[in-house]
Amino acid sequence: MSERLFEELLDETKRLFVEKYGVAPQVLVAAPGRVNLIGEHTDYNGGFVFPMAIERCTIIAASPSAASSATIFSNNMGATADFPLDPDVAPADKVEWTSYVQGAISMSVKKGAKAPGFNAVINSNVPLGGGLSSSASLEVAVATLMEELGGVSFGKVEKALMCQQVEHVYAKMACGIMDQFISALGEKDHAMLLDCRSQESKMIPLTDPSVSVLIANSNVKHALTGSEYPERRASCEEAARRLGVKLLRDVDLETLLASKDKLIDEENGDRLFKRAFHAVGEDVRTLKMADALVAGDWETVGAQMYASHYSLRDDYEVSCPEIDVLVEIARNIGMEGGVIGSRITGGGFGGCTVSLVKTDKVDEITRILKEEYKNQVGKEATIFSTRPAQGARVL
Ligand code: GLA
Repeated sequence: MSERLFEELLDETKRLFVEKYGVAPQVLVAAPGRVNLIGEHTDYNGGFVFPMAIERCTIIAASPSAASSATIFSNNMGATADFPLDPDVAPADKVEWTSYVQGAISMSVKKGAKAPGFNAVINSNVPLGGGLSSSASLEVAVATLMEELGGVSFGKVEKALMCQQVEHVYAKMACGIMDQFISALGEKDHAMLLDCRSQESKMIPLTDPSVSVLIANSNVKHALTGSEYPERRASCEEAARRLGVKLLRDVDLETLLASKDKLIDEENGDRLFKRAFHAVGEDVRTLKMADALVAGDWETVGAQMYASHYSLRDDYEVSCPEIDVLVEIARNIGMEGGVIGSRITGGGFGGCTVSLVKTDKVDEITRILKEEYKNQVGKEATIFSTRPAQGARVL
């Protein structure tokens, strides 16, 4: 199923390239979106995350041209734009798809990619703005193309860090390192346990064919992420400052509870404490879940996923009613119905849930989720299962 999706996307991209530029593309690259199994809003606190690359990606087809700039058609946007191969292009005021592309081009050139002018087509089947890192997959795909055309290799970690900078500077989003890391470093059949403080990653095999990863897109996006994400980040930084550490990762639960007073005041109430309690607790849950997954201890895996969700809902306050409905439907189906665990995934305020489910129950679970979500929310959920996919590559 998913291989077919990939082949379809690839064929369409090649066909569009021929239509636009009259020749076949010489270079093809792909970079995947991601789903995070657990470890949410921990990356910028130096904590642990546990994402995997999904079988949805951004493909770019390209060929060198006689021009001195890049002409790129985005099939998703239905628009063509011109991009100077200049390291010093200033970020545009308004963030659009071109911001990610220009950012990745400029930073790649700055890092030594001497690409000639080129024509390209960008085509993605990662749902845009659905919390599955469509933007990281775009940045990493463009950077991978620039390596290939520019005859350099940045190294995967360096490439991920560069793309995080693209997001910070050109997309004006102060994200952590998770999305770009997994899009650049993902491995087929593995999830990645990443220590965001040391940036060391460990690939954990996810090969049990009886367990599947099910993604349910609520198809809602509350327009809060712009202001709420930096607010969460700032709260965590303030909490760390009051606790006398650089990052919340450097505090354990015991210390946090013993220092609760430092995080409670009239202005903030217990808000800072709740944010820190989530971040510190989530690291514990993430390590526990990774261990349980290796051991095939599904009860423990599921318990960590639900605990993560409720912590994000109640203490970190980044969920929303539609996502909560999806998690509760999954929880009601329960282990007997084939649901191991379920939670919100990604930055929050809409987007997707991730559930671990029994493979032989995927169809039935999908049916119930769709039906109940429609009944309770009045909207369609888009649901698909995926295996852990390969990170960015030249095809
Ligand atoms: C977004 C950011 C990531 C991470 C998640 C929350 O996806 O890009 O860096 O902070 O939110 O876990």
